[in-house]
Amino acid sequence: MSTHNVWTHKGTFLLAAVGSAVGLGNLWRFPYLAGENGGGAFILVYALTIFAVGIPILIGETMLGRASRRSPIMGMRHLTRTHNTSRAWESIGWLGAASAFLILSFYSVIAGWAIHYTGQMFTGSLVGADADTIAASFDALLASPGLLTLYHTLFIIASGLIVGMGIHRGLENGLRIMMPSLFVILLVVLGYGIANGDFGAAVSFLFTFDIGALSLEGWLQAMGQSFFTLSLGMGAIMAYGAYMSSEVSLTRTAFAIAIVDTAVAMVAGLAIFSLVFGAGLDAAAGPGLMFVSLPLAFAEMPFGALVGGVFFILVLGAAISSSISLIEPVAAFLVERFDMTRPQAVFGMVTASWAMGLLTVVSFNIWAEGTIFHALFGRSAFDFIELLTNIFMPLGGLLIALFAGWALTHSEVMKEMRTSETWFTIWRFLVRFVAPAAVAFVFLRSIPQIEG
Ligand code: PFF
Ligand code: NA
Repeated sequence: MSTHNVWTHKGTFLLAAVGSAVGLGNLWRFPYLAGENGGGAFILVYALTIFAVGIPILIGETMLGRASRRSPIMGMRHLTRTHNTSRAWESIGWLGAASAFLILSFYSVIAGWAIHYTGQMFTGSLVGADADTIAASFDALLASPGLLTLYHTLFIIASGLIVGMGIHRGLENGLRIMMPSLFVILLVVLGYGIANGDFGAAVSFLFTFDIGALSLEGWLQAMGQSFFTLSLGMGAIMAYGAYMSSEVSLTRTAFAIAIVDTAVAMVAGLAIFSLVFGAGLDAAAGPGLMFVSLPLAFAEMPFGALVGGVFFILVLGAAISSSISLIEPVAAFLVERFDMTRPQAVFGMVTASWAMGLLTVVSFNIWAEGTIFHALFGRSAFDFIELLTNIFMPLGGLLIALFAGWALTHSEVMKEMRTSETWFTIWRFLVRFVAPAAVAFVFLRSIPQIEG
């Protein structure tokens, strides 16, 4: 069971964690949720929760992994024993496994759209196409449950194979090249958006903070997104933390992850909204926002087919380095709880998540608005699953914050954090009081809205 081997390179944790953090959450989910929730107000809540709640929890979650040097469930069990606290804290493992399972189910479907667009780009099918043609082609993709299921299946199999065969190591070198390339290509798209779109409108949309404009559910979505984007509250970061070398400063690493992640989201948001406003598209278009606006830019820019093809491959790389971090802790959980072998555990998780993903697939066609699921739950199955993750992730994060803040001793924390007393005091205040209060506040605000 143990995980005493530690990653040899000091930078490996950072790379793996950035690989987990940067993904569809930044490129697809952040812009679409910001667009649906009026831009600036959403971003303000999102940014505040990243810095006041997300970073402290990121430090706490890594700390729990590194202090226990075990996978999440066994790690929590070990820590509850050594600290004489309740085994109820193991629920962090259950909650995390449930969130990971739900997230992977839709993550894989959306990553499937990127597979489709990789093909569309390289075959040049959209070269020179106008906005209407591109929107129609996206609608046609969504209208096909068969095609969506095919791509979803391909993506989830690829992710499962990587985790099952343990080829993380090869991925490490891949990430070192892919992550910077993705950032560069995003900057190219942003440059195109500045030159040909409406950058001014994008800036004022994203950075005009009218907090009153945020709906109650918008608060929950903004906070949920800050956990989602940093991969928090599910054991993913804890599982990686278990392999992290003891010499590295947790504080510095956590800031680095959050800064890189936020930078990618901001550049993606600015690029996408410049194009959206330039072309007169609807900012509140929903989950299709990225998949309509970016292909439009690639359709018109010089060498767009090539740039677009490479872009979508990099998106897939970012998505897969995130999806493997969703599978990893659940697989470890199944191995520990139910004595499965690793391949069985991965197979079980992936198959169940795949089946669950079919609910997302049909949300865009057979069960779209106006059909049975909507009538029963007032939203699509996909929206419902997203809502659950917006609740589960902060809840898991809250438990992690409370445990790290209240159960761990001063010397244990100092050994992990390697910072000054001042930083320690700030951190502990944030995880003990601020993070729990913020999560409770957002929950209490938004719950009446969800019921009603
Ligand atoms: N952080 C990833 C993203 O922004 O795309 C999504 C994610 C990965 C969430 C891993 C949670 C997780 F455990
Ligand atoms: Na992210």
